[in-house]
Amino acid sequence: MTTQELDQRARDVLDKNDHGGYTVPREKLYPFQWNWDSCLVALGFSTYNEARAWQELETLFSGQWDNGMVPHIVFHREKTSTYCPGPAHWQAKNEQGEDTSGISNPPIAAHVIRQLLEEAKDKDLAREKAQSLFPKVFRWHKWWHDKRDPQGKGLVVSYHPWETGRDNSHDWRQLLAEVPLDKLEPYERKDIEFVPADERPNQKEYDAFMALVQLGRKCDYDDDYLYEHSPFKVADTTVNFILARADRDLLWVANQLGKDRYSDEITALEGWIPKTRAALVRLWNKEEESYQPISFANGYDNRHVGGTSSAAFLAFLPGCDNDKKAHALLAKLEHWSATHLLVPSYDPHHEDYDALRYWKGPVWAIMNYMIYKGLRTSGHHRAGLQLAADTAALMESGGFAEYYNPDNGDPLGGNQFSWTAAMWLYWLSPMRDELRANYPHRWEALSAR
Ligand code: DGY
Repeated sequence: MTTQELDQRARDVLDKNDHGGYTVPREKLYPFQWNWDSCLVALGFSTYNEARAWQELETLFSGQWDNGMVPHIVFHREKTSTYCPGPAHWQAKNEQGEDTSGISNPPIAAHVIRQLLEEAKDKDLAREKAQSLFPKVFRWHKWWHDKRDPQGKGLVVSYHPWETGRDNSHDWRQLLAEVPLDKLEPYERKDIEFVPADERPNQKEYDAFMALVQLGRKCDYDDDYLYEHSPFKVADTTVNFILARADRDLLWVANQLGKDRYSDEITALEGWIPKTRAALVRLWNKEEESYQPISFANGYDNRHVGGTSSAAFLAFLPGCDNDKKAHALLAKLEHWSATHLLVPSYDPHHEDYDALRYWKGPVWAIMNYMIYKGLRTSGHHRAGLQLAADTAALMESGGFAEYYNPDNGDPLGGNQFSWTAAMWLYWLSPMRDELRANYPHRWEALSAR
């Protein structure tokens, strides 16, 4: 297929999932607006319709709560019963009466806004939109730093695996097993009507997810209550590395829009950035030579949990704190690439690795984009190119799938998936010829299937 044909297919996916101002990740399976999905989808739109890219972000921020939190789902009064938990389970409304979920998502919006502003063809439109979004994004970051780091440790916490984006990662195995299920209210799973059950979280994990939703609902998503009482209280790698990068990108945006106009915000950002940088060091696990989440839940003594996931490599996004660690991570990536397509979401040599099951092994294009971005900005071009080549080859052979099997490249989860199509358009399509020329063997292996 030519690059133009692939681009058209990707645009068709976005246009088909467009509900008029916001894009659902995949019809039926995820029939509402998801936070980090939409941010990354905006990058895809930016390649052919900049106004639509900005609109995706504006619609997402219409779901923002008064306390600054931007929910991980905005329901937009959609009437559908193909997803659980829907509004009746969350019972969370923002002050404008919009139904939302009660947790957030990795804060990638500021990074996206920087990219859109920097690369805009329509500079006037970009400045106008960035001006109007800036205060909202700043309030979201402030919520993270104030409400999710109430003791000023420099690391923010999450109370639900869905907030980290890595729902059923092995990292949460022990923590999820400890979530009390005695008061679990009945619910009906919908996801496995659309995707084979062995590609989704297992039933025990789902019960724990729902129990955590119910805990949040019962305290009205009170951050202070949850900080004291939630059995799931983690400083996650995905969230913290992305926030660290996003703070810098937001600072860049503020400086572009007007140093004087945003002097208070600039001062705040200049305070958060070094504090987070110093604290991220704590996520490094010396024994495993990788970055791992820390549990702040009672009884954990701020211990690392889990093993090495693809989120460890997001350390490159804000910049790894020393060369030795960077080299250890690069060696791991190289080691994984000898036997697997990059980047498995979980260590393929770990006993809990599962090539099919969501965040326990499969490759996710959006993680690869963010790892790539970090590798490139940190000067590790070759490693970045290889994982870009694998991602492009996966899409060419398997279509724009939700995730892919790192052992054999099979597409998994939902097909015609919005953020995967967006990553093709924004990231991989412009590099396709370079990738094929440099990594023909990875390509041929997959296209021969
Ligand atoms: C799901 O429902 O699987 C989502 O990841 C939750 O955000």
